[in-house]
Amino acid sequence: MCGIVGATAERNVVKILVEGLHRLEYRGYDSAGLALVDGDSAGITAYKRLGKVANLENALKENPHDSHVGIAHTRWATHGKPSETNAHPHLSADSIALVHNGIIENHAELRDMLVAEGYEFVSETDTEVIVHLVHKYFQQQQELFKAVKSAIAQLDGAFALAVLCKDEPNHIVVARSGSPLVIGVGIDENFIASDQLALRQVTDRFIFLEEGDMADVSCDQLNIFDVHGELVEREVVQLDDYADASDKGQFRHYMMKEIFEQPKVVAETLRGRLGKHQVMEEIFGADASSLFDRVKRVQIVACGTSYHTGVITRYWLESIAKVPCNVEIASEFRYRDVVVEPDTIFITISQSGETADTLAALRKAKDIGYTASLTICNAPASSLVRESDLVLMTQAGPEIGVASTKAFTTQLVSLLLFTLVIGRRNGLTPAREQEIVSQLNELSDLCAKTLELADRIKEVSNHFTETTSCLFLGRGMQYPVAMEGALKLKEISYIHAEAYPAGELKHGPLALVDSETPIVAVAPNNDLLEKLKSNLEEVRARGGRLYVFADVNSGFSESDGVTVINVPHVSDVLEPLIYTIPLQLLSYYVAVLRGTDVDQPRNLAKSVTVE
Ligand code: G6P
Repeated sequence: MCGIVGATAERNVVKILVEGLHRLEYRGYDSAGLALVDGDSAGITAYKRLGKVANLENALKENPHDSHVGIAHTRWATHGKPSETNAHPHLSADSIALVHNGIIENHAELRDMLVAEGYEFVSETDTEVIVHLVHKYFQQQQELFKAVKSAIAQLDGAFALAVLCKDEPNHIVVARSGSPLVIGVGIDENFIASDQLALRQVTDRFIFLEEGDMADVSCDQLNIFDVHGELVEREVVQLDDYADASDKGQFRHYMMKEIFEQPKVVAETLRGRLGKHQVMEEIFGADASSLFDRVKRVQIVACGTSYHTGVITRYWLESIAKVPCNVEIASEFRYRDVVVEPDTIFITISQSGETADTLAALRKAKDIGYTASLTICNAPASSLVRESDLVLMTQAGPEIGVASTKAFTTQLVSLLLFTLVIGRRNGLTPAREQEIVSQLNELSDLCAKTLELADRIKEVSNHFTETTSCLFLGRGMQYPVAMEGALKLKEISYIHAEAYPAGELKHGPLALVDSETPIVAVAPNNDLLEKLKSNLEEVRARGGRLYVFADVNSGFSESDGVTVINVPHVSDVLEPLIYTIPLQLLSYYVAVLRGTDVDQPRNLAKSVTVE
């Protein structure tokens, strides 16, 4: 989604804002802008450019500017097409400037009211109503903080916003409700951002604002008020150094860097969590054991790639832990009538911890009587983490590429740990748990070995450059692996791709098979291999081109129209983790050949904090 950054300092803040925007660009990137207070209340200067932050940066190089207080924004369009006029900051009467993340649901009625009062709107955005509202109240109250407070009281929806005022040139007022906002604490300088990553170059100390908080931020003062308007102290959190997160190192794209980090982050996610023979269940928190004793069912909710983690987890939970599990897309779950069965734990899975639909689903779950909530998340200070009863953090480190890779594999690892902990209450024997634990101990090496397939997959990717449509097939746990493979391909190469359970081919998709449509099959050496082989024969018989990712021992041989990529042997349980990796590589190389923007594919955003 959109990204916000702001700074108030004794030094010139322009460079800090632009660097912050670059770091936030992974969230949304159709336009960017910034507003700067000119010293001594001479006015506010705003620059906006369509496209990437680099365009804004070039505009600023042509018009160098010196300012000690500024706010900036990178946009991912929701209301109104990408354009300079719709880009933030929005201004009212050239005296108030505002940047906003989120969606204002009652913007149409507020707009009508403000138009009736004489305000002229220049953009199609929902955001512009907020800046005019602030202006209106500023006229009455002559104090920016009070004006912002009055304005937000009128808003329905989600927002994180930052506001500047020409007549109060030394501070920024911010407010958070439904969208994340963080304050970066410096020495004689303070910063704000929608994601701490934007500020890592200037500070490692952060205050994570809570729901309903407002703050008044100047270079030497920081006042935070809670939802009741009470002045509050919030904890300052010192974050570990993960400076390399925004550095691509030897790789051309973040996505490739993140694919290659998988051996490391899988090991990190297991570190300190495995005993000699079993998973240490304290990792889920002090209350976890007694809560887990009551669990008879599992409900998982997530979006995108995280949803695919959920679908795979269902196979593990039902086969290893013998617990019924339901998995649902968050945007569906949140709006349907749900029958909650007793003793059901509610699990959310999310890389960012801020996905609006997943968060709304969790809030609904808390209202309707689930036994407990657990989140599997990669962002320690996120809303999902703060609002769930139990948390297991994935240790993927910041993921910058919009297409999720290392977050997915670390989510899978985390949910396998959960499966074992629940399983041991349901007849999973210590011997079987120990067997899976020793396989997990080998997982990092196996990921590294699988990455050695990169060159072979690069060769094969040449066959996909002219493709317009592609089918991914798998059976059992490989069906969700195929779903994730298809999602990756469509996200970054813009090739239409669909996944099917291979047994379902004959009920429709077989009609699509011709020599133009590549069919990718995921074929580990398991109980379903012979069934899958028969399905692939159906494809061959109709002249389909097959690309089979197969276990070295699964007996596939190459022939005309059949390309085989041999994947290292892996135990049944860990198959989804290993078979995902070559599919990530395939989509990456195809996208590079097609010349797309791999890390920031068109129309997508990393963190979807609006509905
Ligand atoms: C966006 C991202 C996807 C991600 C999904 C869910 O669509 O582009 O990569 O899988 O959101 O995000 P979450 O942070 O909840 O895992």
